[in-house]
Amino acid sequence: MRSLGIGVIGMGWMGHTHSRAYRQLQDRFNEIGIVPHLICCADAIEERAKEGMIRHGFNSFTTDWNELLQNKQISAVSITTPNDHHQNIICAASSAKKHILCEKPVGKTPSQTVVIQDAIKKNGVLSFVGFNYRWAPMIQYAKQLIDQGQLGEITHFRSRYFEGYARSPDEPISWRFDESVSGTGVLNDMLSHTTDLAHFLVGSIKMVISNRKTWIKTRPVASSETPSTNSPSQQQVTNEDYVGGLMKFSNDARGSFEACRIITGPQQELKVEINGTKGAIIWDFERMNELQVYLNPEREPIRQGYTRLFSNPEYPFHKHFNPGQGTGLGYEDLKTIEVSRFLSSVAEGKQAKPGIQEALEVASVHAAVAKSWESEQWEEVRPIEGK
Ligand SMILES: NC(=O)c1ccc[n+]([C@@H]2O[C@H](COP(=O)([O-])OP(=O)(O)OC[C@H]3O[C@@H](n4cnc5c(N)ncnc54)[C@H](O)[C@@H]3O)[C@@H](O)[C@H]2O)c1
Repeated sequence: MRSLGIGVIGMGWMGHTHSRAYRQLQDRFNEIGIVPHLICCADAIEERAKEGMIRHGFNSFTTDWNELLQNKQISAVSITTPNDHHQNIICAASSAKKHILCEKPVGKTPSQTVVIQDAIKKNGVLSFVGFNYRWAPMIQYAKQLIDQGQLGEITHFRSRYFEGYARSPDEPISWRFDESVSGTGVLNDMLSHTTDLAHFLVGSIKMVISNRKTWIKTRPVASSETPSTNSPSQQQVTNEDYVGGLMKFSNDARGSFEACRIITGPQQELKVEINGTKGAIIWDFERMNELQVYLNPEREPIRQGYTRLFSNPEYPFHKHFNPGQGTGLGYEDLKTIEVSRFLSSVAEGKQAKPGIQEALEVASVHAAVAKSWESEQWEEVRPIEGK
């Protein structure tokens, strides 16, 4: 067993999730031969950094991520801050020769993603990205069916990512609604996952046309953040609540996409539907342990319609969590699988997917999506330039 020192930067939702995933690694994926040691966690807010240390058993905490990066015991870092810090932290982490697991969308903007890729390449470190929905056992199985040709030639892809976390106008403003911190709104926050799934399952995207909308234009400032009565009680929302559009894939499949954070009804409906000339699949994160499959209509003309499969230990990764048929995995298990793939790549010294290259491919599509908001035309997906 090889010991590997870990640092986590940004102890909010994702910082805790990554820390728990590292803590589970030896138990769930013992065969990788790595024992992660939680050396240091960082957060700009001291009490969050200290709480992270106590909850997860890090050796130390700091409010200065630079200090964490200078720690020679640390070989790999998770970057789980809001998007505006990713570029600076990744550039410094790669100079300090740390391997990097960064949360999506990696660069706050597409051009920042190019700068990040340059730094990673120059310093020869390994990168990995938090596109965790790839790791759902039933998505992995869908990928196997597609790669084996069981769906035939892929003709259609539809994705939607509908959440209601911001549906109430009383939901306080946070960094997610601030273009200067988050970059785009649901495009960075939510569509990055489904664009990655489109690439993973179908292939590269060559053209897009898109539109966006912001319904809730101001939001209240949380009362804890308004110490003086002169502070404004409402702040402007500076990025989009909704993105929708169409796409054409390089293999000539046609697709559509939507993402929304204020919708009523769905709670966490991250859904992909793929149709080919011989079959089709439907997967929805709200039922992440199920896959609807429709195969070979010619062979069984009477049995038309989808069959619902339940995850079981035969499907990729399931048995790492339990030996039960239909005994489902949860969201955080996807993060444990993600960390296992990252550390497995570190153990082998080989770049794995999804790394910075896959993040850049998503960013290139999103640059074309954003261009289409202005032009109201179809836009070609092109390589992006760094700043
Ligand atoms: N893969 C997923 O499913 C998923 C889900 C949620 C968030 N995310 C991504 O994870 C990242 C973090 O999101 P979150 O929801 O955990 O945010 P969060 O607001 O819950 O946590 C962010 C933390 O970073 C800290 N921070 C801010 N600036 C810092 C700095 N300079 N140094 C150190 N710490 C700093 C904040 O104090 C906060 O504790 C974002 O990039 C987001 O897009 C991914």
